[in-house]
Amino acid sequence: MPFGVYVHIPFCATRCDYCDFATWTDRETLIDAYVDACVADLRRHVVAGTAAPATSVFFGGGTPSLLPSDRLVAILDEIPRSTDAEVTVECNPDSVDADKLAAYRAAGVTRVSFGVQSMRPRVLAALGRTHDPANVTRAVALALDVGFPTFNLDLIYGTPGETVDDWRTTLAETLELEPPHVSAYALTVEPATQLGRNVAAGAPAPDDDDQAEKYEIADELLAAAGLGWYEVSNWARAGHECRHNLLHWSSGDYLPIGCAAHGHRVGHRWWNVRTPERYIAMVEAGDDPTGGGEDLDDATRAEEQLTLAIRTRTGAILPTSMQAEATRLVDAGFLVRAEDRVVLTRRGRLLATDITARLLVAAGAEQELRRSIAGTRYD
Ligand SMILES: C[S@@+](CC[C@H](N)C(=O)[O-])C[C@H]1O[C@@H](n2cnc3c(N)ncnc32)[C@H](O)[C@@H]1O
Ligand code: SF4
Repeated sequence: MPFGVYVHIPFCATRCDYCDFATWTDRETLIDAYVDACVADLRRHVVAGTAAPATSVFFGGGTPSLLPSDRLVAILDEIPRSTDAEVTVECNPDSVDADKLAAYRAAGVTRVSFGVQSMRPRVLAALGRTHDPANVTRAVALALDVGFPTFNLDLIYGTPGETVDDWRTTLAETLELEPPHVSAYALTVEPATQLGRNVAAGAPAPDDDDQAEKYEIADELLAAAGLGWYEVSNWARAGHECRHNLLHWSSGDYLPIGCAAHGHRVGHRWWNVRTPERYIAMVEAGDDPTGGGEDLDDATRAEEQLTLAIRTRTGAILPTSMQAEATRLVDAGFLVRAEDRVVLTRRGRLLATDITARLLVAAGAEQELRRSIAGTRYD
């Protein structure tokens, strides 16, 4: 069975204007104690038998590449893994060098993911990003030099002030780096961010139609370069899909390590305390750092499985109660049928949330029918 470990590293050099992730820019003095706490937490799970050998490990953040490499490796070394485990580290192009990447590779990291966002300095400035696009080219060259078999580049589209030409340039320059995997996200305005405050004060917000046009351009250019979509915001060359992401989208099981990390095990979802200080204090005291959790009932699980699965190229198996609505959505060009599943068309992907809601409403109050899909794994 696939099993994942997610390790959250809550440190960044600076806070980007759009980002509301659990990350801090003034806590670097905590790094050593934080790594020790992650190691101790992992040991606790190993002793308790709650850490099966991982088929995928994901260091996310925050900026995991901000840690000294031996500190990141100290955490990785504690994680029981299958021999061919996928191990991803999210990196900021500003905080990697040849030695760091070589140390990751030697320790068993198989995949690096760089936050690129845009190749246009003007757009990066509007996002409050500090890196120079030239650093992306340098970081990719270093990753290839030390032998990484695959890597990802993260992009953001629809920043206010970004023209369609800016976006085409970002895609073209990204594709020149021949990435095997690209994630492209529509800029989302989170209220508790600098961007959120600017928009609340009257600054321009991203425009839905502009983002839809840019999504279609991305899908066209990425597909033409051999990167097929496999989830609404993710494209990869065959065989380079991110196994850890697939685990999430198929409602698989994963263990959370670090503050604010979320975990899931057969219908039980839980999360660790939010701040690094509390996480360190609880682990040091020998306590379980879980901050909260919930058991999902069958209907909620089924809804979640559908919501995640329908975003993937594999698509979703629908219960009888959704079939009439599905036929309407197929006729309208939003879905196609593929054997016993439905899969979003490009047009459908633009409206994935709305389409999911329509299918769920069609199943309506008929709880038994919703329950009938509860046991289905969408992988
Ligand atoms: C943890 S960061 C990646 C690694 C590193 N911290 C960096 O930014 O270079 C994860 C990704 O989430 C995306 N992201 C974060 N906030 C977003 C937002 N408000 N809208 C769209 N994408 C966002 C960005 O593409 C970012 O690269
Ligand atoms: S986008 Fe990445 S670098 Fe920027 S604040 Fe968020 S986690 Fe940190």
